[in-house]
Amino acid sequence: MVVKKPPMGWNSWNTFGANIDESLIKETADAMVENGLLDAGYEYLVIDDCWAERQRDKSTGRMVPDHVKFPHGMKAVADYVHSRGLKFGMYSCCGNLTCAGYPGSFDYEFIDAQTFAEWGVDYLKYDYCFRPMTQKGDLLYRRMGLALANCGRDICFSACSWGADQTNEWIKSTGAHLWRSTGDINDSWASVKELALKQYDYLTTNGQGCFNDMDMLIVGMNGKGNVAVSGCTEEEYRTHFSVWAFLGSPLMIGCDVRNMDEATKDILLNKDIIAINQDPAYRQPFACGNHWGHREVPVLAKYLADGDIAIGVFNFVDCQVDPFISLDCLGINRSSGKAISVRDLWTGEDLGVFTDVLRVTVPQHGAKMLRAKVIDA
Ligand code: GAL
Repeated sequence: MVVKKPPMGWNSWNTFGANIDESLIKETADAMVENGLLDAGYEYLVIDDCWAERQRDKSTGRMVPDHVKFPHGMKAVADYVHSRGLKFGMYSCCGNLTCAGYPGSFDYEFIDAQTFAEWGVDYLKYDYCFRPMTQKGDLLYRRMGLALANCGRDICFSACSWGADQTNEWIKSTGAHLWRSTGDINDSWASVKELALKQYDYLTTNGQGCFNDMDMLIVGMNGKGNVAVSGCTEEEYRTHFSVWAFLGSPLMIGCDVRNMDEATKDILLNKDIIAINQDPAYRQPFACGNHWGHREVPVLAKYLADGDIAIGVFNFVDCQVDPFISLDCLGINRSSGKAISVRDLWTGEDLGVFTDVLRVTVPQHGAKMLRAKVIDA
């Protein structure tokens, strides 16, 4: 299986943690369809940790879904999710136990891959806790990668080793389609800033087939749920979504999609921003200078499949900034006779035509997401 674009979907962990069950999953599937999330591209519904019984089945060695949370088993849940047109994801871990202490897949990789395939799983998030210290991470991820590739079903393999042990150096050998390049997110601006700035180190690793995963989105959590801390302002959530989209991270929603407010929907359903994330060329962004050399004001550009240029300015400092972006840096020299016509993807506003330099004003913790068309000057 080859995965060509950053996966999009929903994951249970950020809001619900261990409080998951069949009705939550069904209601979430319904909400993803009814709120337009599926139409916008959010196709995976992923159950994270805490879905299993504490012991495997003694006779078959298989994992068993929690009888109280999932009384009809996982195949029934997968069938419902599929009936709504969505794809179904689950979670396991390369260690003896998952991070929350449920059975992990160590030494059961082929049995578990087979079980997931029989249940109708389309996506597996695979964590990094409780692994025997004698075993190296790359081998453990390769074991599950190989098991999934031979289980008879296309299953997107989402590695979650938080960037530990130089994951970037070996992850592409494992068959993973995405890999967590950061530690865990929490619902705060400090966390968004920390994870976003860390991506500088990994921009060259990202690419088609194996995407850098900056962790699930916190947009719309508003300070409530399993990884809640202080919450963010609407502006900060917009910036968070912009950075994740621009850097090509998977877009996995983490809020309760059954109860989204209008501001949350406006962010998560912005088709122009999603299009930057899902651009078919999937090119690496490049730095186009930053505000007076300030590392916390990245000014990035990215060439899109149709010849347009995406420009992202992200303000992680605590005051307004107004950086310049020179056309020269974008690849348009003065003698070319070319200019750019620029649209603001959050406001929908046409900003006009620029021949030399473009200057943008970005409020504290804000972001500009622009799409520039190359035209004759
Ligand atoms: C962490 C992982 C989180 C979540 C959690 C479940 O290691 O990074 O995203 O899956 O485990 O216990």
